[in-house]
Amino acid sequence: MGLEGLLPELEIIRKDFPILERTVAGGKRLVYLDSANTSQKPQVVIDTMVDHLENHNANIARAMHALGAESTEAFEGARDRVAAFLNAPSRDEVIFTKNASEALNLVASTLAFRGPLQLGEGDEILITEMEHHSNIVPWQMLAQRTGATLRWIGLTDDGRLDLSNLGELLNERTKVVAFTWVSNMLGTINPVSDLAARAKEVGALVVVDASQAAPQLPVDVVASGADFVVFTGHKVVGPTGIGVLWGHREVLDALPPFLGGGEMIATVTMAESTYAPIPHKFEAGTPPIVEAVGLGAAVDYLSAVGMDAIHRHEQTITRYALEGLASVPGTTVLGPLDAESRGGAISFEMQGVHPHDIAQVLDTQGIAVRAGHHCAKPAHARFGVQSSTRMSSYLYTRPDEIDALVEALNYTRAYFKVG
Ligand code: ALA
Repeated sequence: MGLEGLLPELEIIRKDFPILERTVAGGKRLVYLDSANTSQKPQVVIDTMVDHLENHNANIARAMHALGAESTEAFEGARDRVAAFLNAPSRDEVIFTKNASEALNLVASTLAFRGPLQLGEGDEILITEMEHHSNIVPWQMLAQRTGATLRWIGLTDDGRLDLSNLGELLNERTKVVAFTWVSNMLGTINPVSDLAARAKEVGALVVVDASQAAPQLPVDVVASGADFVVFTGHKVVGPTGIGVLWGHREVLDALPPFLGGGEMIATVTMAESTYAPIPHKFEAGTPPIVEAVGLGAAVDYLSAVGMDAIHRHEQTITRYALEGLASVPGTTVLGPLDAESRGGAISFEMQGVHPHDIAQVLDTQGIAVRAGHHCAKPAHARFGVQSSTRMSSYLYTRPDEIDALVEALNYTRAYFKVG
């Protein structure tokens, strides 16, 4: 397999990202391989946000003037764009949050509140061992608050979900099944619609963390079979400070509000309040307006390139990177070894060198990667390691950047005199 899956307009795309022109480490070209941590931003996202602040800035839904109307239109327009990006049946099902963590906390917290979906003792919550902490901790908190039991799907040695005991893990007590679409540490792409269908057989709510999926493959919330899908703006070439919760209308309607405050109400008296319909029921206070507007531009940008083409590009780069890493002696990749089963994040170990040391030496060569536990401590523990080094590509990654990584890893081995 060669490099024919690369985006044909890769050089044009790279020009859209001004930061890629930067030099670092005393004049070395920047090789940015940390996109799973946060993606870089195209000029159109930067310009859209600057234009909003320069020309249209006002609070939304509250201001009775021209700028207020323009700002509201831009914010609600972003909701339309995100709904289209997700193939959501209704724009009202798109809730803006601060990030994916807040979106997951919204669901996990409100399932503890009194209401038709409230969890209690005897109920079970099923997650997986490959989750980011943001899809573990909120469920632990829900279990503590309600007396429900937290259970999890383990992992196989090659970093896939071990579904051998799913029949026992999923039962009539299972009320929630929450799992990641693509692992931020192992890169594994999970069989979302199959798992969702199994969870639905026992009547569980299905919550999918698409934080690493939304940047790199088509996310169709209807086809996923999930009840909730979350992602964050800053990993889809959008800004920080904005995340998305998509949920089925009937489930969102059945959940009580998460936060109380302005704009989420229908009426308020000193004794009690009634609540606005979705999406506003879940958007208390002034929302991240310019961030939402930036996210709208970001998802439009990705859609114009094409999510299928981006996915092909990621898999091509991933395959090339897996081959490159296999050529570096003493280096072991965590997670599946075939590019088809993975997204564009590859965590690896190098015998005899600590991940922080690797990242530091790579930085001297102008190469940005992430080192640590990547907010996935249980997944690292499963493989008997504290931490790893992670390279992550995106639609702007070129094969010669992978060559630079491989060369720098060999240099790192020589620097630390290992092997
Ligand atoms: N969750 C992000 C990562 O995986 C920050 O690096």
